[in-house]
Amino acid sequence: MTQTVTPYHVSGDIDYERLLDDFGADRLPDATQERLGHPLARRDVFYAGRDVERFLDADERSVVTGRGPSGPMHLGHVLPFYFAKHLQDAFDATVYVPLSDDEKYYAKDQTYPETRDYLRDNLRDVLAVGFDPENTRIVVDTDDADVVYPVASAFAGDITHNQMTATYGDPPNVGLAFYPAVQTAHLLLPQLVEGAHATLVPIAVDQDPHVRVSRDVAAKAKYDASKPGALLGKFLPSLDGPGKMSSSEGVAIHLDDDPDAVREKIASHAYTGGRATVAEHREKGGVPEEDVPFQYLQAFFEPDDDRLRDIEAAYRAGELLSGELKELAADRIVEFLRAHQSRKADLGALDAELAPYRLTADERERARSAVGL
Ligand code: TRP
Repeated sequence: MTQTVTPYHVSGDIDYERLLDDFGADRLPDATQERLGHPLARRDVFYAGRDVERFLDADERSVVTGRGPSGPMHLGHVLPFYFAKHLQDAFDATVYVPLSDDEKYYAKDQTYPETRDYLRDNLRDVLAVGFDPENTRIVVDTDDADVVYPVASAFAGDITHNQMTATYGDPPNVGLAFYPAVQTAHLLLPQLVEGAHATLVPIAVDQDPHVRVSRDVAAKAKYDASKPGALLGKFLPSLDGPGKMSSSEGVAIHLDDDPDAVREKIASHAYTGGRATVAEHREKGGVPEEDVPFQYLQAFFEPDDDRLRDIEAAYRAGELLSGELKELAADRIVEFLRAHQSRKADLGALDAELAPYRLTADERERARSAVGL
């Protein structure tokens, strides 16, 4: 089986267990998934990691999860942010949200003005998640360059060219060759600001190379920062099939999609685990493992374990038809989107909304002095 999984390229049928061998991360024990206390962990979307227990046992905790603004956000992009909000509510974690506009300018065929438009729209989606501004910092690489650049430069000297190519392959330009130092700056920033403490990075598994680089930099012990932990997630599937949800291939559900259009999309494009005819379905039952609407409910949209179990059993028994299961999923997804969209629509001017989430002058100073400036 061929699979390519790097931060810049994901293709093929993904063997999630084999990736753990390749990357050297550990599968999470069920008890750890339970302790995280969220469907995404309990239902095995977040399935592996590094130092997750250390985070759970710590008394001071931060979470870092970011976004590269390469277009409008879809469901697959936003779920880690809702998960981070759960960690904030349940464990009093400080959440750092870095936006790597520089990265997407290097990695994608998009101009600075285009990147800037995506950035501003993505920031509104991040704000719509409803993080607590007292306990959340949103950092934009090009806006917060007074912090990000000196910190990234300090780390860049600790990342060798060989380490970078071994982790990412041959970069297409010098921007991406430098970018690992920038993402390491994101991942160590909470500790530069507040001193060494447990940090967890909930991300899709393709982003793990960045965490490995940041752990290597922390391990050199030049700075007061411990290795960030990783919580690695499987991809949310594309609506029309097994591959990952993506804006460029397959069918994605975007955060700005009109609810009626979403119902229509699900009805006409969802890949199901149903049988060819109703009679056959009634007789043999459906296959929830292959059914994308079921997987959406399982991952996030049906938080009630008993209700999910009933849906699964009814589908497997052939009592619930694919069309009915699609409608159940559509109801839940539309309900989620309406709530998200209404919070987004209620936001005022972006700069004013962002103000309480920005690093304070004092925090900037602490981060810079932590690397010796
Ligand atoms: N590199 C990520 C992407 O391409 C975005 C990102 C930037 C990020 N900094 C991060 C993700 C820190 C998680 C943690 O999507």
